Amino acid sequence: METGKDFKVEAVSGPQVWRGTDFSNNTDWVYSLPVEIVNAINSIVFPLVEGGVTQHTFQFEKIEVPGLRAALRPIIDALAFGRGFSMLRGLSVEKYPTEELKLALLIIGHHMGLVGPQDGHPKSIGEVRDINPDSRTHYYHGGGPLPMHMDPVDAVGLLCIRKAKKGGESQIVSSMAVHNEILKQRPDLIQFLYRGFQHRRRNERLSKDGGKVTNYNCPIFADVGGQIVSNYIPRPIRLAVEQGFVSLSSAEEDALTLLDETAARDDLCLKMDLMPGDIQFLNNRLIMHGRADYLDFDALEDRRLMLRLWLTIPEWDKYPKNMPHSDAELKTAPA
Ligand SMILES: [Fe+2]
Repeated sequence: METGKDFKVEAVSGPQVWRGTDFSNNTDWVYSLPVEIVNAINSIVFPLVEGGVTQHTFQFEKIEVPGLRAALRPIIDALAFGRGFSMLRGLSVEKYPTEELKLALLIIGHHMGLVGPQDGHPKSIGEVRDINPDSRTHYYHGGGPLPMHMDPVDAVGLLCIRKAKKGGESQIVSSMAVHNEILKQRPDLIQFLYRGFQHRRRNERLSKDGGKVTNYNCPIFADVGGQIVSNYIPRPIRLAVEQGFVSLSSAEEDALTLLDETAARDDLCLKMDLMPGDIQFLNNRLIMHGRADYLDFDALEDRRLMLRLWLTIPEWDKYPKNMPHSDAELKTAPA
């Protein structure tokens, strides 16, 4: 389809294009971890935690659990070649302390790909929880709803430890269905999403040129090796505008508004109420996610808690350099 001058975009087709309603009576995306593998993981991590090992001292890359790679293979394949999301069940979280579950999640992650950095620590598990405002350092330490976005890494795994008092459901959407809807509704606007936007850098001191915004556009959609992929993180785009570094044309504003509205559409989204022990896996190149508003418990130790695993999958094609997908890359990405 012709959109702008010399700019052609085709609709995406394949299993990565879906609507939430496609899964109303379908649980093909839910996998169970065999009991013997869960027991094997527990038998490894329990003595380690007893011996004082933490996630930051755990040498998980030396661990190989028989059968675990094979059990996780369908999940990786579904992320890469299928619908782009999966759920893994089987860990029993009620009986185990959070530190032990972090070690278990590191073992699972290591059998899928390369575990990424979080909270300023290399190769670690992040806690997604509403903590007190004076000790917050990251957005995922706040409560409330989250707009649709991707995490800046190949894949994310979210292990539910505790639910909120009320609400807080996860919402996911096929970014490729969103792409196609925008192309159908406003073919004139999609070129702006391929062209992309400058991002406010998180830490300009670490960038090569010291600039507060990227000196290149970060595309929201791109063709990587013949596959259309996506990378949408609204906050750094909006911050660059709000802080006066960038101004957007009305067509660019319209494109971003339509993207936000389409990604949040009820007929496109799949809502998931994660239960304790559920691990939601998402391919960030194909899936956007958000979170419904929620009411939490008062005591910090009772509040909604998710453990977050960030993964790089070495066998996947690399993102284009102007499509930053990790904090490190966003800080140092080239022109
Ligand atoms: Fe996220």
